[in-house]
Amino acid sequence: MSQLIDGKLISAQVKEQVAKEVVSLKQQGISVGLAVVLVGDDPASKIYVGNKHRTCEALGIASHQYLLAASTTQQELLELVSQLNQDPAVNGILVQLPLPKHIDETTILNAIDPSKDVDAFHPVNVGKIMIGNFDLLPCTPAGIMDLIDATGVEISGKRCVVVGRSNIVGKPMAMLLLHENGTVTVCHSRTKNLQQICRRADILVAAVGKAKFVTADMVKPGAAVIDVGMNRDEAGKLCGDVDFEAVEPVAGYITPVPGGVGPMTIAMLMQNTLMAAKLQNG
Ligand code: GUN
Repeated sequence: MSQLIDGKLISAQVKEQVAKEVVSLKQQGISVGLAVVLVGDDPASKIYVGNKHRTCEALGIASHQYLLAASTTQQELLELVSQLNQDPAVNGILVQLPLPKHIDETTILNAIDPSKDVDAFHPVNVGKIMIGNFDLLPCTPAGIMDLIDATGVEISGKRCVVVGRSNIVGKPMAMLLLHENGTVTVCHSRTKNLQQICRRADILVAAVGKAKFVTADMVKPGAAVIDVGMNRDEAGKLCGDVDFEAVEPVAGYITPVPGGVGPMTIAMLMQNTLMAAKLQNG
């Protein structure tokens, strides 16, 4: 039997703290604002953007939503980003990914002012994370660090295995664990002996995007298992990258899906927006 890591509860605590600080900034005459840009009508993206909007409103953060047609050109989107970069009421800018195929994601992400880049996707912020001198953290890995912290499991000196090497999760996750003195291994689709490597992990982070990819034989008894996945199983039921039923009796700590990493990501976005507002106001 493992202990559940309650992302809903921990994210609620983070959001409560953010809301308090937003009030305190307002008392100093500083308002906090987040601009979220969605191009097109991808159903999943619409849900994510709606959640961000509602969370902003609940925490007293001004939500500036831009819901643009799928036919929006790259130039039009660049012009909007430029306008948001210059708008003092906007402290954070998030362009929801994926973008339609005719728009180059890198061009758009690189156009966002790094000090307003609440996703921490701009090369300046990615570089700062690499060095360990960062203000804005990538939301999902930052949320995972809080979840690990909540277990009380010490990262320093531990074997940490990250499965997945995406720019959004796997790579920055590995860096954050390394900064906390973990001994970090990053696995990916070409990794040999994946099962043995995962089985040595004290802290295992699964970010592969494949339903129930991590099975019980890949988990060290007592390990902390963090599941970043958001997939559908054969029956259409929401599930993670970890085979929860099989792994739960083996692990020491485990995040559920839903209710684990997901709620943390949005809480960290709010925390980043607050941090951006503080930095921009000295
Ligand atoms: N689409 C899915 N996840 C993310 C995210 O973390 N940031 C942005 N901008 N788009 C996403």
